Amino acid sequence: MMNVLIVHESMFGNTRTIASAVADGLHQGRSPDDGAVRLVHVDDAPTVIPADVDLLLVGGPTHALGMTRPRTRQDALTQGATAAGQGVREWIQAVTPRPELRVVTFDTRVHVTMLPGSAANAAARALRRRGFDRAQRGESFWVQGTPGPVVAGELDRARDWGVELATRVRQGVA
Ligand SMILES: Cc1cc2nc3c(=O)[nH]c(=O)nc-3n(C[C@H](O)[C@H](O)[C@H](O)COP(=O)(O)O)c2cc1C
Repeated sequence: MMNVLIVHESMFGNTRTIASAVADGLHQGRSPDDGAVRLVHVDDAPTVIPADVDLLLVGGPTHALGMTRPRTRQDALTQGATAAGQGVREWIQAVTPRPELRVVTFDTRVHVTMLPGSAANAAARALRRRGFDRAQRGESFWVQGTPGPVVAGELDRARDWGVELATRVRQGVA
């Protein structure tokens, strides 16, 4: 069995589109009756992860070189984004740690030369500090600018990554 929970944050919808492509890939990479893939926005994410979840994915947009903060989310709102109650950063502080759980992070970023910083990297570190000992940084996916859209080819890459994650979990190497 392989139950996957994907917790995502998205203010302009790009990370949501990526998360949903990763979910498609996970579906594709599993056997047909092999558990469930649940995609939830961070506002609706549980603070106690259901016991039957074997893989947790956590994804969000990169703001100011890391995870979003109340101030950067406010800034996004002024640029036309949809309001969000909290971000991945706040959810990580609220969730009950599961040291043994496989956790992989991802993010969306603007592909600009010399612009470092990744919400996926920051989230993986924050999750480990919180007690998710197995949290690892996954992929960054590129958007064309602050509101998006996702760069051509990135949805395919997200789907392929989902297939690869499903394979790794099946083989017990994730
Ligand atoms: C306040 C703010 C700060 C940002 N800072 C960065 C940054 O440091 N690096 C980066 O690559 N993108 C940055 N971006 C662009 C976001 O990464 C982009 O809006 C996001 O990936 C879109 O995802 P979403 O549609 O899921 O919100 C920033 C965007 C906002 C609104």
